[in-house]
Order: sequence, then structure tokens, then C-alpha cells
Amino acid sequence: MADSTSVPKHVAIIMDGNGRWATSRGLPRSEGHRAGTEAARGVVTRCRELGIRHLTLYTFSKENWGRPADEVKFLFDLLVRFLTRELDTLLTQSIRFMVLGELAELPLATRKVLSHVMAKTAHCTEMTLNLALNYSGREEILRACRRLIAQGLPPEAVTEQRLAAELYTVGQPDPDLIIRTSGEMRLSGYLLWQSAYSEFAFPETLWPDFTPAHLDAVLDDFRKRSRRFGLTSEQVSAQ
Ligand code: IPE
Ligand code: IPE
Ligand code: MG
Repeated sequence: MADSTSVPKHVAIIMDGNGRWATSRGLPRSEGHRAGTEAARGVVTRCRELGIRHLTLYTFSKENWGRPADEVKFLFDLLVRFLTRELDTLLTQSIRFMVLGELAELPLATRKVLSHVMAKTAHCTEMTLNLALNYSGREEILRACRRLIAQGLPPEAVTEQRLAAELYTVGQPDPDLIIRTSGEMRLSGYLLWQSAYSEFAFPETLWPDFTPAHLDAVLDDFRKRSRRFGLTSEQVSAQ
């Protein structure tokens, strides 16, 4: 059981390895995505139990549009089914649901369900669950710049705070910990601005096999890290 004194405020996960999980079992990739939603359910519940206040799951990148059309369609249908089924649980656990990414470009049926679940859970206060959907960190930063320019700000008024306030994550802390499953060690455009001082973990486990116990192991390791934010160890110990 994790010790509540050093629970990260924000955990962000790149849920990777669904396709490999399925292929290694002789199954279609879609089965990997289906199994991946079960893993997501377990991890959401575990984070809520541990008192992690913000959880962000990389669900669909902008680049993922380039996958075969039937896989893309399956993913969006799966998302609609997952959210419809999970709404009651989100409400019972007081989890606010949010989307990081460009909603307007998503299929109408998906948009409707996303908006419905966001509206229904808007009052929930125990945890925020963000799905990064149709997400690209570079696009997010560009969008923020465009929004600042549209406000007519003079260059000296463009500060880190002002820019961060135009990101999808406005009002939420930066991720303390970013986990990518399946042994891949890259960000693939995830939370590029927000990850400036994040800790990273790259468990080998493929996402559909990632259980709450795997999460606990990553959190145990996170607890042992020394985060210095540019200071010396002595300064950090004196804090
Ligand atoms: C992650 O699993 C899910 C999405 C990107 C939607 P992948 O589908 O990328 O699985 P691998 O990397 O091919 O194994
Ligand atoms: C990143 O995984 C996106 C999601 C997990 C949703 P990918 O599998 O798409 O990333 P690359 O292509 O291996 O970098
Ligand atoms: Mg992948």
C-alpha cells in the first residue's frame, strides 16, 4: 500500500502496447484495445483510492489518425461504449471527466458522449480524469500561442503563466510522474510543456497486462526519487 504522504498529485500515462499484446496472442489488434480498457478501469480506480487528484491517460494522438480506418473507428466506438458504461462509476467515485485535445474534429457520436460525461461529472471533486484525445503537445502549444496573439498581448506580457493558462490543462498541476508502458521510451508528443520537471517510468509491461499492483510498484519507485527542480541536494533537504 502506498504511503499517502508522497502520493503524486498528477500521474500521466501513455497506455502503450495494446497491439503487441493482441498480436502475441494471435488476436486482432482490436482485442488488445478492448483489453486495454479493462486495464484503464483498474488504474483509474486505484488512483482514486490512493488519493491521486489528477490522472491523464493518452488515449488517441493526432498521429493515430494515420492508422487503418477500421482500427480508428473501433477505437472511437470503444471509447463511446466505455464512457457510457463508466459514467455511474465516475459519479459514485466523484471523478470529474475532462478531455485534453481538439473536440471539434472528433466524430459527432463521440463528441456527444464526451460532452455528456463532462457535463454530468463537472461537479465531482475527488479526482480529475483527463483523456488526451486527438492530442498533440506541439499543437497544444501552438494553439495557446495563437490564443495569446488573438488577445493582442504585447510580447512582454507573454509569460509562462499566461501561456499555461491557454493549455488544455489550465488549472491543473503539471504531471509529477509520466508512465509509459510496453518498454518504449519516448513521449510521442505527450504533454510537452507540462512534462518539464516530470519524473518518468518505463515499465516493460504491455498496457492490457498493467494492473493496480504494477502501478503500486511504479509509485514505490517514484517515492524514492529525489526531485530537485534545479537546486542542490542540500538545499532540497533543508526545505
Ligand atoms: C496504444 O497501443 C493504444 C493507442 C495508441 C490507441 P498501441 O495500439 O500503440 O499498441 P502497439 O504499440 O502497437 O503495441
Ligand atoms: C502514443 O502511442 C499514443 C497513445 C498511447 C494513445 P503510439 O503507439 O501511437 O506512439 P508511437 O507511434 O509508438 O510513438
Ligand atoms: Mg504503440
